[in-house]
Amino acid sequence: MVGGGQGAYIGNIHRLASRLDGAWTLVAGAFDVDPDKGRDFALSQGIDADRSYGSYLDLIEGEKNRADRVDAVAICTPNFTHYPIAKALIEAGFDVICEKPLTATLEDAIALEALTQNSGRFVGVTYTYSGYPMVHEARVRIANGEIGKVRTVQVEYPLEWMATAIEQQGNAQAAWRTDPKKNGRGGSIGDIGTHAYHLAGFVTGLKLESLTADLATFVEGRALDDNAHVMMRYEGGARGLLWSSQVALGNSNGVRLRVFGESGSYQWFQEQPNELVYTPLNGRVQIIKRGADDLSEDAKLRTRTPPGHPEGYLEAFANLYAGFAEAIRARADGREPSPLGQNVPLAYDGLKGVAFVEAVVDSAESDTPVWLKPLAV
Ligand code: NAI
Repeated sequence: MVGGGQGAYIGNIHRLASRLDGAWTLVAGAFDVDPDKGRDFALSQGIDADRSYGSYLDLIEGEKNRADRVDAVAICTPNFTHYPIAKALIEAGFDVICEKPLTATLEDAIALEALTQNSGRFVGVTYTYSGYPMVHEARVRIANGEIGKVRTVQVEYPLEWMATAIEQQGNAQAAWRTDPKKNGRGGSIGDIGTHAYHLAGFVTGLKLESLTADLATFVEGRALDDNAHVMMRYEGGARGLLWSSQVALGNSNGVRLRVFGESGSYQWFQEQPNELVYTPLNGRVQIIKRGADDLSEDAKLRTRTPPGHPEGYLEAFANLYAGFAEAIRARADGREPSPLGQNVPLAYDGLKGVAFVEAVVDSAESDTPVWLKPLAV
C-alpha cells in the first residue's frame, strides 16, 4: 500500500476490505508522505521492518527483485499523486489498485490508461458503489430488459462535511480536496461526482454523449466547486441528472440512484444498501432484499451473510478486492476470469471518470454544452 497512514481515511477501509475474503495479505507499505511516520505506521501494522518503506520509490526498489515481491500495490494517496505513483509501479512491473479519481488531470489519465494497455498490467479503480450486491442486481435486471428501455437516470451524491471552511481550520482531508493543484479542476464533482457518474453508467450500461453543467462554490474562499448540477444526454436518447454536493446538510453519505424505464423503475440508496426498490408499470412498489433466493448470480456471489444480517460499505469494498484478485489470478492462469472478476472497474473506467470531470468544468466555465467524444473516451 502507498498512502493510508496514521489518521488517513480510505487506507484503513482498503486494509479491512482487502482482508475480508483472505485473498490478500498486506506485506509492505509506504504509508505516509513523511518517511519516518510511514515507517512507524508500517511497523504498527505488523509489517516487517525491511518492508516498511519511507517512500513509494523505496518500495519499488525494495520489492522489485524479491522472490516474494508484492503482487499489487494499492494507491491511497491524494489525487495529484496517483499518476506518478501508478506510472512508476507499472513501469516496474507491478499491478495496481488505484483510488478514484484515477488522476488529477485528463492528460495524466490518458497517459496512464495507455501505459496500462501497453504494459499488460492490471489497474483496478476503487469505484466503491459498484461493489454492492444490490447494485449488481439492478444492473443485471436492467440488462435483461426488465424495465424496458431506460428513459431517465437520476443520480446524486450529497455530503455535508464540508459545509463550512474546515479546510482553513486544519482539516487535512478538506485542505487537499479544495486545492486545484492537488485535487484536480473539479471539487465536489471530482471527489464524489465521479462516483455518481460511474454508478449511473455501471447500472444502466448507458454511454454518456454530452452534458451541460452548473458549478457553484458556496463556502467563501474555497477555490473549487462544492456543489454541481449536471444535465446529461446518453447515446440512444436517455437523459440523466447528476447532483454532487459537499454542503448538503443532513446527508452523511447520501448516494442515491433512480433509473426509470419504459415499463418500470429501480431505486437504490446507499444508506439502505440491502434493498432495491422496484416499481413495475401499473404494479405495486416492491422491495427486493439482498440474500433472497431469486436474485441474480451476480448479486449472490457478492453476498456473504444471510438475509436480515445487514451488509454494507466494507463488504462492497471487499467485493472489489475479491474481483481484482480473481482478475489477476485469471490472467496468471491464462483463463477468463470467473463472474466475480468481471465487471470490475479498470483504468479505462477511471479515464472516463476524469474525462467526465473535465467536461463538467469546461461546460460550467463556458456556459455551453460539452460533447464527450473529443475527450478521448
Ligand atoms: P487522506 O488525506 O486522509 O490520506 C492521504 C494519505 O496519503 C496520508 O496518509 C498521506 O500521508 C499519504 N500520502 C500523501 N502523499 C503520499 C506519498 N507521496 N507517498 C506516500 N503516502 C502519501 O486522504 P483520503 O481521504 O484517504 O483520500 C485518499 C484517496 O482516496 C483520494 O484519491 C480520494 O479521492 C480517495 N477516496 C476514495 C473513496 C472511495 O469511496 N473510494 C473515499 C475517500 C477517499
